[in-house]
Amino acid sequence: MTEREPIRVSEMTLHDFRNYESETIHPAPGVNLICGENAQGKTNCLEAISLLSTGRLLRGSKDSLAIRHGATQARVSATLNPMGSALAVQLALGSRKKVLVNSVSLPRASDVIGRLPTICFSSQDLGIATGEPSERRHFLDTELAQIYPAYLRHLTIYRRALEQRNALLKQAQEGSFYPEAFEAWEDQMVEHGTEIRRIRQDWITWLNPVAQSAHQRLAPGEGFLLTYEPREQDLALALSSRREDLARGTTTCGPHRDELLIEVGGKAVRTFGSQGQQRTSVISLKLAVLESAREVFGFPPVLLLDDVFSDLDQNRRSALVSAALNEGGQVFLTCTEPGQVGGELLRSSTIFLVQSGRMGHHEATL
Ligand SMILES: Nc1ncnc2c1ncn2[C@@H]1O[C@H](COP(=O)(O)OP(=O)(O)OP(=O)(O)O)[C@@H](O)[C@H]1O
Ligand SMILES: [Mg+2]
Repeated sequence: MTEREPIRVSEMTLHDFRNYESETIHPAPGVNLICGENAQGKTNCLEAISLLSTGRLLRGSKDSLAIRHGATQARVSATLNPMGSALAVQLALGSRKKVLVNSVSLPRASDVIGRLPTICFSSQDLGIATGEPSERRHFLDTELAQIYPAYLRHLTIYRRALEQRNALLKQAQEGSFYPEAFEAWEDQMVEHGTEIRRIRQDWITWLNPVAQSAHQRLAPGEGFLLTYEPREQDLALALSSRREDLARGTTTCGPHRDELLIEVGGKAVRTFGSQGQQRTSVISLKLAVLESAREVFGFPPVLLLDDVFSDLDQNRRSALVSAALNEGGQVFLTCTEPGQVGGELLRSSTIFLVQSGRMGHHEATL
């Protein structure tokens, strides 16, 4: 695919968002370094960009929590280049979140996905290696929803059907069992669940060699392998039997129960990996996602790197930094100590100093 000019944030304004009262920044097209002490608003700034990108807050936080304490509504808006389009998200106590593109309100917040592709990496992402299977599914869902619009459509319909089936299972436990009501929802679950699995499988097959070569650079000689593991082979059959699900009152089969196995040196990294191996595997995975997004969009997505330096050793740090520099797109990188960042990156960065919800722009390198 031919490279297109990357989509980037050229201006962003935060109004009563988290600890920001009213602030406008003009980020550079390249690397933006957001420096400041703890609790000053670095992560909040990345969260604002992520909100514009996905229509959602980081870590599944509730919308109302992002409204500045004492205020009743929040607004994050941005101008995107090269098109010059305007994106805005409004949060208000007691009413639904609104997402606007060029001042026109979108039917659903998630419709914004794809307009400002981003890839986020923070210490929270370690959970992909160490956490429950749900964290790995969440990883698959958020990344795939951005990369393939069809995926989000299948996921939305699947989840609604799953909710309905679970409600029927609950009703059955309470004594009202309507077998005929199950079929329509199960048909939808089979149709869209099959597509969800196919897209996840294909993507993992694509990611594997890319993540493997990234991993090879970071940890030479240690094998790395991703395997998508469906909960069962035949979803239609599993759903139609219903017996176990009726006993439990919830749906125990389907892609919402699948697992992504991550192995290093032939062993599950979640159970047997050292902390270093867990970190390396997540970085390799994220670098592969970056590659995949670039391939699909034809340009690199905006990279949001939150506080990645404090946790990483020199080797992993420079792999991330060179990925950030080489991909040529826009990068937002937070740190508490500019000294952690290293000369090469520092020289090519635009620096913002964050203090108590104010962002000062610094021309000179620190
Ligand atoms: N709705 C809100 N209203 C006002 N302040 C908030 C709101 N939500 C979060 N904050 C505050 O914003 C401050 C900055 O948070 P943020 O996570 O951005 O800090 P940070 O600069 O990333 O710090 P660290 O280096 O510790 O990660 C925190 O003190 C937090 O309590
Ligand atoms: Mg932070």
